[in-house]
Amino acid sequence: MDNEQANKLIQAGDKSQAVRRKLVERTSKSAEIRSSGEQTLAQEIAGTVNLPHPIYIDSAEGPHLTDVDGNEYIDLTGGFGPLVLGNRPSVVEEALAGQVKKGWHFGIPSAPQQLLSDIVKEAGACVDQVVFCNTGTEATMYAIRAARAFTGKQKVGLFDGSYHGVHDYALVKVDAESDRSRPSASILGSGVPRVIAEDLTVTLPYRDETAFEIIREQKDELAMVMIEPVQSSNPRLDAGEFLHALKEVCAECGVLFLLDEVITGFRIDYGGGQAHYDIKPDLATYGKAAGGGLPIGAVGGRKDIMNTFSGRDKAPYIFTAGTFSGNPLTMTAGIAATTYMRDHQDEIYPYLMAQGNRLALEVNSFCETHQIPAQIMNAGSMFHLVFTAGEINSSRDITKDWQVAEREFYLHLLGHNVIIPGIHLAFLSFAHKPEHVDAVIDAVKNSFEDMRVDGII
Ligand SMILES: Cc1ncc(COP(=O)(O)O)c(C=O)c1O
Repeated sequence: MDNEQANKLIQAGDKSQAVRRKLVERTSKSAEIRSSGEQTLAQEIAGTVNLPHPIYIDSAEGPHLTDVDGNEYIDLTGGFGPLVLGNRPSVVEEALAGQVKKGWHFGIPSAPQQLLSDIVKEAGACVDQVVFCNTGTEATMYAIRAARAFTGKQKVGLFDGSYHGVHDYALVKVDAESDRSRPSASILGSGVPRVIAEDLTVTLPYRDETAFEIIREQKDELAMVMIEPVQSSNPRLDAGEFLHALKEVCAECGVLFLLDEVITGFRIDYGGGQAHYDIKPDLATYGKAAGGGLPIGAVGGRKDIMNTFSGRDKAPYIFTAGTFSGNPLTMTAGIAATTYMRDHQDEIYPYLMAQGNRLALEVNSFCETHQIPAQIMNAGSMFHLVFTAGEINSSRDITKDWQVAEREFYLHLLGHNVIIPGIHLAFLSFAHKPEHVDAVIDAVKNSFEDMRVDGII
């Protein structure tokens, strides 16, 4: 269906208009906050849904979020991924309360940094040493710098459909119109020097062996190839063979191989993608769950490469710094959360995998039965409802044909008290009990049914 037609159906649709009225009526405080802040806030961090105003959250507990008007929702935002244990798990809350009494920012080192680095080392197959920073963006930026210093080469290989944060390199994306197997680069947004896309990156096709040919052709210039164990644009767990082959090609070519575990670390398995796929990269980047819900990034990897951070053993030194890097509050939250995940890993990870798979299976069979052009792609508890009916081999197969319907779906879902944020990547947590997952399945089905009544899907 074209977007214009879908918009007309929304304008005329009883269900579409009813959910808008319901949401607007019950979120007057959110509307007030929006109108008072409009003059000074250049951009909201992330959109909730297509309402006249965003919904502002006041508090969170377990699987729930409560907005400033007192409406309670099942939270599938997961804080954009970090909250593997759900909102405000008591182990983290108590640890943070203890640390707040002692101080939350010292600048100079404190013991928790050592402790969390030991945990990351123990969890990550490739990790001999760790450097902390504040975001996943910083982590991938530092890893690129380290790889360029270590190899003396300039270029970085990035895959079609990837997400590695918001620094200049990470904003080099694949031009969606370019050849699928030999994709060319485009830049997301303005302000990124063109030279980064033209001379300093190599764009690679995802789950396509032509990537190996390109790496072999460019090996004298390629410092590193980076890839997510699970791409958030098309979450799946069938990339293992490709990842292993990619690692071999990188080793053969003298190109470093980085797994970006910012989402997958401590999420798809305690040991992240490295454990799930039994693979050992040269470097791995972490963020999100490693900080227990506080801002974090980390680079971990082989000692000889990690030596670039200190210049030890005559390694070429790279400069890194950060006022808040390794701050005791983040380290304390990270230690509390990851220790709990480690000690309960036999319970947590099979549970998350089973619930994520159940959700996907139930929704997908509903979509098939009712010929709804959508499907859930998931890697355990991390999932993305994609509005494309056919087989999806990579993000290239995700069409934009149902864009308006997709936006409308999230509005209905919110009307049924389930929140998935504007990026449409969603997460279950250990705090989501089977009855919460059942409620999500019902809300998804009811949202589709509402849209069917209005003729939108
Ligand atoms: C794989 C990956 N790398 C890096 C990042 C950037 O992390 P941050 O948002 O903490 O900067 C993200 C964020 O979603 C990510 O998914």
